[in-house]
Amino acid sequence: MKTFLNLRALMLTLGMTALAAQAQESFKIGLILPMTGQQATTGKQIEAAARLFMAQNGDKVAGRKVELIIKDDGGIPDAAKRIAQELVVNDKVGVLGGFGLTPLALATAPIATQSKTPMVVMAAATSIITEASPFIVRTSFTLAQCSVAMGDWAPKNGIKRVVTLVSDYGPGIDAERFFKERMLLNSGQVIESLRVPLRNPDFAPFLQKVRDLKPDALFVFVPSGAGAAVMKQFLERGMDKAGIKLIGTGDLTDDDQLNDMGEGALGVVTSHHYSAVHPSAVNKKFVDAFKKANNGMRPNFMAVGGYDGMRVIYEALKNTKGGQGGGEALLAAMKGQIFESPRGQIFIDAQTRDIVQNIYLRRVEKKDGELYNVEFDVIKEVKDPGKTK
Ligand code: PHB
Repeated sequence: MKTFLNLRALMLTLGMTALAAQAQESFKIGLILPMTGQQATTGKQIEAAARLFMAQNGDKVAGRKVELIIKDDGGIPDAAKRIAQELVVNDKVGVLGGFGLTPLALATAPIATQSKTPMVVMAAATSIITEASPFIVRTSFTLAQCSVAMGDWAPKNGIKRVVTLVSDYGPGIDAERFFKERMLLNSGQVIESLRVPLRNPDFAPFLQKVRDLKPDALFVFVPSGAGAAVMKQFLERGMDKAGIKLIGTGDLTDDDQLNDMGEGALGVVTSHHYSAVHPSAVNKKFVDAFKKANNGMRPNFMAVGGYDGMRVIYEALKNTKGGQGGGEALLAAMKGQIFESPRGQIFIDAQTRDIVQNIYLRRVEKKDGELYNVEFDVIKEVKDPGKTK
């Protein structure tokens, strides 16, 4: 009898220990990022931002330990999908995040839907992405948001005849379409639309064509990391001297590369949601801390997407007492979040799960001996114009 009681007590204790262990089990965030390949700078920026966020906000939320798992997809959609499956099934992550390119996000969307795992898109920026799964929430931006702003600004500032040059995939096609629509609405013209391959593009033949067409400006979208090559070839061909202005979305004058582009970049006007010199106390604190933690590296818009994505996840964890209620409860707690980001006020539209944010017009200028995108105008609270429903 006594042995039986002891055994019972022991089993109770064991049971309680198991329960306690479960409560203590860490909440895992799986970030899938291109850490190698053409988009490696995106992975590097987002990883640094996520680690900074955790260093500043601790690795415990609502009493639960948070663990970050970072995996390299090499920019390959099949790899991103396979990794997502492994993270959900083997590692039991509570949230997926990252996604450095549109095809990577689209390939992973079905995994989020099937496993009911919130998927925070921190980089990819084609409008359609949020419609690929009801579990997707976006903290980056859309090309439609930025391109509409430029299509309004350019014709009102003497730029009437434009050639567009975009990377030939989702975000480039959105940029081309929304820029052109707004140009036409504002009595401007797009006289030619050129598309370059995403992988290892050679801009030379396209730029030659632009030179021959002699537009007022060339409008460019290329993904983060490719802007410096466009700038270099644009200047080498003397296109600026031939009177052709360079404009685009801010991916072109990416803060990650801008300082190395040289004085030829001065005066280039772009539209975007983030600049490292956005004048706010929140941004100054972010930029200083980011540089300090990363050997002086300047954060770009990818870093901000990652930093804000982590905040959305942390807030959702807080509001669900550490993730109680699973993926659906977390997703609900992500919808409608509103807070001040280093880029300004942002809002996660509860209906579309997409980001609503300011879009700035910026001009490359020299400040304290460095090149920056200096904001000179703002369009407030821009919703994604590219939603189909
Ligand atoms: C994308 O693939 O959606 C993408 C990547 C990099 C950018 C913008 C969009 O700078």
